[in-house]
Amino acid sequence: MSESAQPVNPVTFPPAFLWGAATSAYQIEGAVREDGRTPSIWDTFSHTPGKTAGGETGDIAVDHYHLYRDDVALMAELGLTAYRFSISWSRVQPTGRGPAVQVGLDFYRRLVDELLSKGIKPAVTLYHWDLPQELEDAGGWPERDTAYRFAEYAQIVGEALGDRVEHWITLNEPWCSAFLGYASGVHAPGRTEPVASLRAAHHLNLAHGLGTSALRSVMPARNSVAISLNSSVVRPLSQSAADLAAARKIDDLANGVFHGPLLRGAYPETLLASTSSLTDWSYVLDGDLRTINEPLGALGLNYYTPTLVSAADADPKGPRADGHGASNYSPWPGADDVAFHQTPGERTEMGWTIDPTGLHELIMRYTKEAPGLPLYITENGAAYDDKPDPDGRVHDPERIAYLHGHLRAVRRAIAEGADVRGYFLWSLLDNFEWAYGYEKRFGAVYVDYATLARTPKSSALWYGKAARTGTLPA
Ligand code: NOJ
Repeated sequence: MSESAQPVNPVTFPPAFLWGAATSAYQIEGAVREDGRTPSIWDTFSHTPGKTAGGETGDIAVDHYHLYRDDVALMAELGLTAYRFSISWSRVQPTGRGPAVQVGLDFYRRLVDELLSKGIKPAVTLYHWDLPQELEDAGGWPERDTAYRFAEYAQIVGEALGDRVEHWITLNEPWCSAFLGYASGVHAPGRTEPVASLRAAHHLNLAHGLGTSALRSVMPARNSVAISLNSSVVRPLSQSAADLAAARKIDDLANGVFHGPLLRGAYPETLLASTSSLTDWSYVLDGDLRTINEPLGALGLNYYTPTLVSAADADPKGPRADGHGASNYSPWPGADDVAFHQTPGERTEMGWTIDPTGLHELIMRYTKEAPGLPLYITENGAAYDDKPDPDGRVHDPERIAYLHGHLRAVRRAIAEGADVRGYFLWSLLDNFEWAYGYEKRFGAVYVDYATLARTPKSSALWYGKAARTGTLPA
């Protein structure tokens, strides 16, 4: 990195840069049995004993379904200019197929109108992991039909909101849906079937391609359709051939499996080779790759921490430290010969090492691999053990430092030519952190789970100031 590319103080962003926060339906909405909503795989999973910390569920979550007006008012007061949220599929299409439930769509229309009335740009994620249970009962993502069902659902939502929402994201972190959902089983539906996880990855890609076309067939052409990937920054422990090969294998399974077909219209040859003892990929049918390769309007990057790997024999008894939860089953099909290591440095409550250089690296990678494609950081943030002071305020200087470091990394990438158009902090509110239940707080806004009262933490005030001024407060 050249000295001249270092942002100087004050760190100022381009005027049109979006300053957002992100959430997802199951993590915040609650109201799981209201207005015709039916169970998703996360309702089933979280109600299955032993699957989430303390048996916690999203039944109430932070009751955003009823408190959404207050939450939008809070965003407006802070000065945010964008908000990324997801739609609960089973609120809109309870069986995952057939006609939509109007009252479900109406909730999202009210939310969007509320945001627009406050000058906040909505960014809609169609799928943030909550598959209608009926579709899982029919086989879930390993089955091809699920991709067609997604396209139908995308069209319904596109028709309902396409006139007022410009930013669309088909899938959030399909890696987690495929590999945590169907290989390690730490996420819903909790299956531990490596081959099914690879089939799921392909059908998620196909769903994205079909969904993108479906959205574009019903929406104004000015709208942008993106996907949010949790692209990993995979680093080898050493430069030995074996460690480099391990890093390559994990890079294929974390990244190439999605951006290969999305950006180049092909799965990496090295991925097909490393998984050949598990699958022949015969579920990739003629024309699928062209469908998936439909040009993106933008790419969403979710980044938290880098991944450090080596060949397994470098650490035969080491624990699997890939940061993706405890399971006896690996989320990395065909990669039993790879060991994961804790990266050095300070960590957040998730145990994830804080390393803004990884975010910079990721942005520059896509700037090179997908020239001309606008990028958004659709998630970045940190969990800390936040507690209110006796005066009721919540001070979270660690989160401010985390945000500051990562936003500086974004600014540096922009200075080096990257087209990053916005940043969505994860998360607006403390919420249901999947298998961790409510014990990990990612919010810029503190939620008292007993009263559901919201209190902006000092990081929310800091971030709001950045949003209002376009400059990082010192
Ligand atoms: C990624 C996911 O999209 C989000 O749902 C989750 O809460 C955060 N990472 C933090 O783990």
